[in-house]
Amino acid sequence: MPAYQLTVNGRSRTIDADAGTPLLWVLRDTLGLTGTKFGCGQGVCGACTVHVDGQAVRSCQTSLKEAAGHAVLTVEGLSRDGSHPVQKAWIAEDVAQCGYCQPGMIMSAAALLKRKAHPTDHDIDEAFADHICRCGTYPRIRKAVKRAAGGVK
Ligand code: FES
Ligand code: FES
Repeated sequence: MPAYQLTVNGRSRTIDADAGTPLLWVLRDTLGLTGTKFGCGQGVCGACTVHVDGQAVRSCQTSLKEAAGHAVLTVEGLSRDGSHPVQKAWIAEDVAQCGYCQPGMIMSAAALLKRKAHPTDHDIDEAFADHICRCGTYPRIRKAVKRAAGGVK
């Protein structure tokens, strides 16, 4: 079995696992980064969203082989102390309810604001169209994204 190399939260990691192993399992089970959540396992809920080379991707639908050689960022790597503008806005707007979907939401928000500093309502709706929150936190998510707008480098 070949070993795969990838960078996770700025640290180079070597992973011994099958090529097709979902990145989600590598993050959670191999590396212990349990902030990234398993929801549907089918690419439709967004709970497992991480960044690969700055793009929001579903880690349940990304294989280890696809992630190899790339830079992966999880919610644990956004900041050391919760000081990322999206994290601060999430707290200020009291977005989370049960919290399960929120790491994925936060990673999508961070990716959106990186590519568009001041997103419109339409941009926000598009970015979160494939995210499911069973607690219905969507209105607070929209407010938090707007609060964080302009603050993500
Ligand atoms: S767990 Fe990956 S999209 Fe739902
Ligand atoms: S906060 Fe509970 S599922 Fe979104």
